[in-house]
Amino acid sequence: LSSQDLQGRHVLVTAGPTREPLDPARYLSNRSSGRMGYALARVARRRGARVTLVSGPVSLDPPPGVEVVPVMTARDMRAAVREHRDQADIIIMAAAVADFRPVGCADRKIKKSRAPDTIALSENPDILKELGRERRPEQVLVGFAAESHDHEAEGRRKLATKNLDLICVNDILGEKTGFDVDTNQVLLIDWQGQETLPLLSKEETAVRILDRIRELLP
Ligand code: C5P
Repeated sequence: LSSQDLQGRHVLVTAGPTREPLDPARYLSNRSSGRMGYALARVARRRGARVTLVSGPVSLDPPPGVEVVPVMTARDMRAAVREHRDQADIIIMAAAVADFRPVGCADRKIKKSRAPDTIALSENPDILKELGRERRPEQVLVGFAAESHDHEAEGRRKLATKNLDLICVNDILGEKTGFDVDTNQVLLIDWQGQETLPLLSKEETAVRILDRIRELLP
């Protein structure tokens, strides 16, 4: 039996990509599989937490005992997160939110013969940054950063600008880290210091991240 050290806590996790429609057949998205966020939700539940998982479109089974809230776009995800954030003791934004969306979605499929040369984009809301601005001090706020370069500096910058307690930095160029693989190697940065986790399964990485979060709880 695993330890029930998160019993009585409510954990809100986001996972997966968001999908930003261009027309009824097409969308902009990214390579996120949702595996890291689902592992966090599964492990938090196993350790006794009540877990809400706001999930973009992924092909993963819902973790047992977890409330799953399916969403499509960044704006849907923002609404779902805002609805659940007040009850949460811990919020972990593992989702790969699309930074941009096409301006307006055509109501008919765009014809090849009338293809536009460019796609106009507008910026999506930064959900995590908003959470950081409006947070309760006793709430533990955790972000992810998918980086190809300057991992530590980028992590520290995002920890500060988004007003987080902890940031988990992933390398997206590694063959065994980042998108669509079962393993990950994460650099954890908080206000006390930092720790480079070894290459681990996403499940084991989730255990280590939740160990760290457990220490940050009031
Ligand atoms: O700034 P960057 O996108 O690298 O930050 C990544 C972190 O911010 C992740 O935790 C991600 O879930 C969150 N994020 C967000 N809303 C966005 C973009 C990123 O909540 N529009």
